[in-house]
Amino acid sequence: MKIEQIISDAAGRAVKALYGIDVAPGTTTPQKTKKEFEGNLTLVVFPFLKASHKAPEATAQEIGEYLLANEPAVAAFNVIKGFLNLVIAPSFWSEMLHHIDDDANFGIRKASADAPLIMIEYSSPNTNKPLHLGHVRNNLLGYSLSEILKANGNRVVKTNIVNDRGIHICKSMLAWQKWGNGITPEKAGKKGDHLIGDFYVLFDKHYKQELKELQEQGMTPEEAEAASPLMQEARAMLRKWEAGDPEVRSMWEMMNNWVYAGFDETYRRLGVDFDKIYYESQTYLEGKEKVLEGLEKGIMYRKEDGSVWADLTAEGLDHKLLLRSDGTSVYMTQDIGTAKLRFKDYPIDKMIYVVGNEQNYHFQVLSILLDKLGFKWGKDLVHFSYGMVELPEGKMKSREGTVVDADDLMDEMIATARETSAELGKLDGCTAEEAEEISRIVGLGALKYFILKVDPRKNMTFNPKESIDFNGNTGPFIQYTHARICSVMRKAAEAGIDYRQEERGNTDLSEKEISLIQHLADFPAVVAEAGRIYSPSLIANYVYDLAKEYNQFYHDYSILREENATVRAFRLMLSANVAKVIKTGMGLLGIEVPDRM
Ligand code: ARG
Repeated sequence: MKIEQIISDAAGRAVKALYGIDVAPGTTTPQKTKKEFEGNLTLVVFPFLKASHKAPEATAQEIGEYLLANEPAVAAFNVIKGFLNLVIAPSFWSEMLHHIDDDANFGIRKASADAPLIMIEYSSPNTNKPLHLGHVRNNLLGYSLSEILKANGNRVVKTNIVNDRGIHICKSMLAWQKWGNGITPEKAGKKGDHLIGDFYVLFDKHYKQELKELQEQGMTPEEAEAASPLMQEARAMLRKWEAGDPEVRSMWEMMNNWVYAGFDETYRRLGVDFDKIYYESQTYLEGKEKVLEGLEKGIMYRKEDGSVWADLTAEGLDHKLLLRSDGTSVYMTQDIGTAKLRFKDYPIDKMIYVVGNEQNYHFQVLSILLDKLGFKWGKDLVHFSYGMVELPEGKMKSREGTVVDADDLMDEMIATARETSAELGKLDGCTAEEAEEISRIVGLGALKYFILKVDPRKNMTFNPKESIDFNGNTGPFIQYTHARICSVMRKAAEAGIDYRQEERGNTDLSEKEISLIQHLADFPAVVAEAGRIYSPSLIANYVYDLAKEYNQFYHDYSILREENATVRAFRLMLSANVAKVIKTGMGLLGIEVPDRM
């Protein structure tokens, strides 16, 4: 148990014994003692004065004496006005460290068979272009959130809904048909998602040219859009697709498969995965059905032109279109259908959608509609809404010049990590493969950490150069700290030292050592809080503080050169557990940590 909890419980018993009152939970929670005073934890006694009928000093004195006599973790105390500063017994700290050391999965709770089942949807790309920087933030958040929720004892299903049908993919298909000359990813030597993205861009180029020409002939922009032969062709293709035209369907399937092969590679490199992938082409008809069901139950209504709507004015929103007059579905319809399948496949208790904040309104509406349609998790669905991410001005524009491609970004990060690590001599003595592996781990670690340490709701700028600085609040700094500890442990092993075999009983702990143990002991509470408020950044910043604190300790104290074997073993144990918690914490962020670098 955490020391804060132990003291809080003991203080509750003290107040009960001394003044006969039951205190509200939370009123006895101690704080860390301020640096200028002696002690580790401080209780504020003001809430108990009414019951004690004594001055703050006298009340604190009384409670302090009670704790000293009855709580073995308390070794001494002092009183400053209404503040009771408690010195925790050194033996308590070393026991705490042993307890942490004994638990290989410290901080992680295992899910029981009847634990809540949470589905997280993340990534969810369209199939007309490759993944970009926005998707990177999405994927990192979704993956980390899944790991954090798992670590809190939940069962988690990771899903992805691929929007694989619609006008966007028809545009790429049409452009490929017209100007592709039968090119394939193999022939082009290109990833399939990139190839399709190129055709999407090509469509747009020709379409814009068409619009320009039509307007030069005297049409208004609206008229030009309506008259554009290319757009008409794309729409015709979509109708053919909906009608199940074999030729269009087989081209669609072939091209989507190219895209999936490309996505898979990006996901693999990024280190994210899914338990179940949904495809819009398989869910949108279910959505249509569900909407018609709602129509029968009077939850939806039909307009004269045949379109189907939901009236959300009672909820303070407006009217929402669900089926067009020609019977085709909209984005929302698909989400209703997917919801039905999700629930059919898994008896989920909670649904979390990781989707950018430009879709806040969509999810507000979806929640209301699902609730009306009888989904028990609809009302409390979580839209994990995150902000935009950009690169600093002038950095690495992708081939289209607008968005930053995910694959290019990863290449760039790994290349930068290779250069920086080589410059700092961190790759000296490595084989070529080792150097490559370290560069990969460091490059991706820099990218992931920089994005995840930020509050997800905030818009942010990803700064590649800053992210890879070995001395800042960065992934590489933390990774390096881990590698440094591993190196100490290797040297200890080479010298034949196994801290677990040494005699226990180092009670002469320094402030820095106690503070590090206290920091380690906080980890489970940080994991719990990160799960409660859905916050990978809480974990990121915790791990950074831990690494920073360890580095100060490492700088100030000798470990292997310490002559007292008990003290040396204690410091090795402390180091090993800092490394363990760093590794677990970074694992919750989806970031690998190297053993050497
Ligand atoms: N594919 C969509 C887009 O790129 C995002 C899908 C989000 N998820 C959902 N269930 N609507 O905008």
